[in-house]
Amino acid sequence: MSERIDLAAFPPDFLWGTATAAYQIEGAVAEDGRAPSIWDTFSHTPGRTANGDTGDVACDHYHRWREDIALMRQLGVDAYRLSVAWPRVMPAGTGPVNPKGLAFYDELVDALLEAGITPSVTLYHWDLPQTLQDRGGWPERDTAFAFAEYASAVAGRLGDRVQLWATLNEPSCSAWIGHLEGKMAPGWTDLTAAVRASYHLLLGHGLAARAVRAAAPGARIGIVNNLSTIHPATDRPEDVAAAHRQDGHVNRWWLDPVHGRGFPADMVDTYGVELPARAGDVGTIAAPLDWLGLNYYFPAYVADAPDGPAPYVRAVRREGVARTGMDWEIDAGGIETLLLRLTEDYGARKIYVTENGSAFEDLVRPDGSVDDPERQAYLEQHLAACAAAARKGAPLAGYFAWSLLDNFEWAYGYAKRFGLVHVDYRTQVRTIKGSGHRYADIVRVHRGRTRRAA
Ligand code: FCB
Repeated sequence: MSERIDLAAFPPDFLWGTATAAYQIEGAVAEDGRAPSIWDTFSHTPGRTANGDTGDVACDHYHRWREDIALMRQLGVDAYRLSVAWPRVMPAGTGPVNPKGLAFYDELVDALLEAGITPSVTLYHWDLPQTLQDRGGWPERDTAFAFAEYASAVAGRLGDRVQLWATLNEPSCSAWIGHLEGKMAPGWTDLTAAVRASYHLLLGHGLAARAVRAAAPGARIGIVNNLSTIHPATDRPEDVAAAHRQDGHVNRWWLDPVHGRGFPADMVDTYGVELPARAGDVGTIAAPLDWLGLNYYFPAYVADAPDGPAPYVRAVRREGVARTGMDWEIDAGGIETLLLRLTEDYGARKIYVTENGSAFEDLVRPDGSVDDPERQAYLEQHLAACAAAARKGAPLAGYFAWSLLDNFEWAYGYAKRFGLVHVDYRTQVRTIKGSGHRYADIVRVHRGRTRRAA
């Protein structure tokens, strides 16, 4: 059944995982000393999320995490990528640690290890403490230092058991969607603020990487970017140039600085915003990395949009191509291209696919089972493309399916389901979908193969 995926391309110690993020699953937003984050504020602001949905309850993972670990055991995965909620652990953003907040993750990590599941911790998946937002948020330099302080506290507590650390999840979404497009928290549409936020996010990444390494010497540290393959909509030179700008906006802006290349000069010109740079930042941002995280969902086709806003690009929707329930075009070849780009252009020594997955409308049968052939096909196609990249030399060390559970899909609320496991939000009943069973098969077959080969 797994023949179409060249599983032998993956190394024997390949990590098969699933991923989630704190605000998308935990709920319990006012429990045990957790303070509000920018996502509480944003989702409670009328008109910001579909249906007015919020993460107040989400998957109630804060109370049901034991059940969720049992689901991972059923799937047979090796690893779990979770994020820690900053406002749970350090409610004021800086200063005192909330013991109950840290205790939650402490217990979770112990239980994962007991279940034979390797935890991979992401320190920031978009839930900035609201107190820091009130002081200016990511456009302010202090926020980067606050992030390192928080990172140090978490690594100090969990670093004896957690090895795999990611600083930021998709900083481009925080900066561009949060501060330029206004479609995610904090919901701003201000280019200067967005560029400053992007700078301080990457500075915070570098400072946090250093802080985690100091607090947990065995830590293996990476950063998670969502990258995309960018194509010009036509071969008009204006559109080709627009594609290069969009590549700068979503890919190079985030990859070049952490690889010691500084911020791409063409993009600094395009934005026309002075960077809030200080001496020494270039080196801090380029802190040594043990791995790169790739989140991949879709390719982009773009055209020139001279009337702005920066980067003067508009997305072009192609007709007659396969799409997910997010209306995102499906192109598994994109993940292969990006894995090879990280390998060849950026010299990556280790890469994890930290997210990949798809939303579709799921049909729950009268007997309660959930068949999701489209999600299953997406999974298979993308794993086949990962295997192709591994064959061509990409040092791919693991794959984390997005997501373990259906969850709060940010501005889309609960309408969009990405889970390998279906969640009935009325009852909180979890049901492994067809794609989840298929994933479990793939993991089992890969293990069987490598064990035989070993
Ligand atoms: C990524 C996010 C993740 C989830 C998926 C669908 O951009 O990191 O939280 O929303 O998209």
